[in-house]
Amino acid sequence: MNTISISRRRFTQLLGVGAAAAVVRPAFHFATEPAVRSTTTGVVRLSANENPYGPSPEALKAIDDVFNLACRYPDEHNDLLIDALARLNGVNRDQILLGDGSSEILQLCADTFTGPTRGNLVAADPTFEAILNNAEINGAEITKVPLTPGFSHDLDKMAAAAKQGFIYICNPNNPTASITPKNEVREFIAKVPGQTMILVDEAYFHYADSPDYESVIPLVKDHPNLIVARTFSKIYGMAGLRCGYCVAQKETIERMRAHQMWDSVNIMALAAAIANLNDSNQVPNGRRLIGEAKAFTISELDKLGYKSIPSQANFIMIDVKRPVVPLIQSLKQRNVHVGRLFPALPNHMRLTIGKKSEMKTFLSAFRQVVA
Ligand SMILES: Cc1ncc(COP(=O)(O)O)c(C=O)c1O
Repeated sequence: MNTISISRRRFTQLLGVGAAAAVVRPAFHFATEPAVRSTTTGVVRLSANENPYGPSPEALKAIDDVFNLACRYPDEHNDLLIDALARLNGVNRDQILLGDGSSEILQLCADTFTGPTRGNLVAADPTFEAILNNAEINGAEITKVPLTPGFSHDLDKMAAAAKQGFIYICNPNNPTASITPKNEVREFIAKVPGQTMILVDEAYFHYADSPDYESVIPLVKDHPNLIVARTFSKIYGMAGLRCGYCVAQKETIERMRAHQMWDSVNIMALAAAIANLNDSNQVPNGRRLIGEAKAFTISELDKLGYKSIPSQANFIMIDVKRPVVPLIQSLKQRNVHVGRLFPALPNHMRLTIGKKSEMKTFLSAFRQVVA
């Protein structure tokens, strides 16, 4: 038994039986079979906005194929993914920066553009907090601007608070799953002074289907101060592999790259990301399956008298009409994990949409804890 075969077996054990089988299955089985099981027996994990169906079967096969390259640095695999992403987004190769998850991109933005001598950070409240933590560690002044009553970013107030620093826009926004309308975002990007940097985090881009939503990647060519972050952790089902990227103008990418360690993205993640992009079923399957489970969950919650913020993502923010923390704890005791408390919305529960079977388990536990 050689090292590679041991590693492969351990790896498929980690992913679960479904994943191992998915390697040899055609893509359409995505719809009927779970690709990935929870690593903790019995726990329904609806807390981290992951895609429970996992990556494309082609991506799992690609990982298997690069096992014997584990001793090599990922050099040319970086190039292949950058080529694919440049083509996909209609930009030059030097406008793409890969990251160890989009979390690394967010950290690089904080390290490059925020701090006492670099600039302040302006973000919505509530929003995805990683970059706020990064900027705080850098000693940056931080301004939180509450979302509007309709849960979009208050872009006028954010622009006014920016002081030529750095503005973080999460669209769709985590934890509210709400969007900031495309016209407002476009006007905002056009009017913010060029010295103010703007990061638009599009982690949940693929799940948004509102006519009021669009990506701002096409605006990068006209705006040297615009950075757009994307991730393979959500619809591409690669949260455990770690791969993300950003699109910006070349000079901005160079400034950020100076803060990055070499070879931060591993060869398995690169191979899987490339294969995921090549599988034309991955995104539509994810949208359809999560969309169906989301519609089911919302209608069941509606029957129980609970509404959620209109969702353009793979999670929903439910108004539980009481402090959410005791409910989170009671659900955890029943092996159902949901999102944590978001202090700006203490009566809301963030619930990731998983497989329909997982949503049924959640609903029966939810009925018990709100009874
Ligand atoms: C809005 C948003 N941005 C970025 C991330 C980071 O994702 P990753 O580092 O896995 O790409 C997340 C993760 O939940 C997120 O919700």
